[in-house]
Amino acid sequence: MKIISVVGARPNFMKVAPIHRALKKYKKDIIHLICHTGQHYDANMSDIFFKQLALPAPDFFLGIGSGSHAEQTGRVMIEFEKLLISEHPDLVIVVGDVNSTIACALTAKKLHIKVAHVEAGLRSFDRNMPEEINRILTDSISDYLFVTEKSGLVNLKNEGIDERKTFFVGNCMIDSLISVLTLTESSNILEKLKIAKNDFILVTMHRPSNVDSESRLKGLVKLMNSLSIHKKIIFPVHPRTAKNLEKFGLKEKINENIIITDPIGYIDFINLLENSDLILTDSGGIQEESTYLGVQCITLRTTTERPSTIEEGTNLLVGEDYSKAEEEVMKIINGHRKIGNIPDLWDGKAADRLSEILLKNIIHS
Ligand code: UD1
Repeated sequence: MKIISVVGARPNFMKVAPIHRALKKYKKDIIHLICHTGQHYDANMSDIFFKQLALPAPDFFLGIGSGSHAEQTGRVMIEFEKLLISEHPDLVIVVGDVNSTIACALTAKKLHIKVAHVEAGLRSFDRNMPEEINRILTDSISDYLFVTEKSGLVNLKNEGIDERKTFFVGNCMIDSLISVLTLTESSNILEKLKIAKNDFILVTMHRPSNVDSESRLKGLVKLMNSLSIHKKIIFPVHPRTAKNLEKFGLKEKINENIIITDPIGYIDFINLLENSDLILTDSGGIQEESTYLGVQCITLRTTTERPSTIEEGTNLLVGEDYSKAEEEVMKIINGHRKIGNIPDLWDGKAADRLSEILLKNIIHS
């Protein structure tokens, strides 16, 4: 039995790493291979994650790179189809909601190869987000849908997906987080950036809706400048955001006391997150990681596809309203903190459950 798992962009690596580890236990029955589409290609957006997550070098690298949505998706499909025709896998595993996810799921299905989607069922109900389109389409053609939180089961049911295909296994990304928590002690990122525990705000921002327009990005710079009067700010900058700060001439407008860095590796980033006073973000994964760690998270988005982080966790949505964000940050700094719980099955064993299900359903069927 041959399985190919697909990784493309930064948030995919931490989801596939625990699956690879779990499937290795069944190596008598399963050959597990990894295909990297190359959607993300910078060393600090890709290579470092392989090293730190103990992922073997990918068996296949498609070298797709950047481009418009159609270019990126189309190029992945063309190259992945060639690979599938020569490798004949029994199953393709795709994770998350990036362009590589839908491109590979669609290619596999057209060749009558079974598809498993990890992180199925999440919905923001905002079809302007490219990720929402990728999620809906991928779920609609997948054979095995592995769900991270209960809202996913409800959403899939409402979309008419056969319940026999859906499995609530928990969160593979949290498996990775738990597996590196002992390693973060060896990180020296706090010393390197000359910051102290709980004494800084971490900021990450990369969604097109927040960083592609000049006025939105200007608003973010203004917000960070204003917050930097009260707390140190660490701002690891995603390539999309870096390009736009440059393009709109906003880099020079960022206060000097704000620490700007390149994208940061996984272990250092988790160390920063667990030691931050709060995080201001528009990421999907960070909403979950902060909920697991009990770190206060303010999300600059109007919707979230991860409602458990709001209902159970430490996440708060402030929409695209910078003054509301500032108000909420100040409340947290002044001690008004949300106490959260860890959602069901975010226990470090999601990939084990998922592998058992695959083994039972595919090999023994
Ligand atoms: C993609 C995902 C998004 C995910 C994010 C995590 C889609 C539709 N979006 O968005 O869901 O949250 O990854 O980062 O798949 N670039 C580099 N080096 C790299 C990668 C990208 O410089 O290694 C630059 C390129 O100029 C590119 C831009 O960053 O145009 C954006 O990359 P892209 O893959 O198009 O989307 P992301 O914004 O990263």
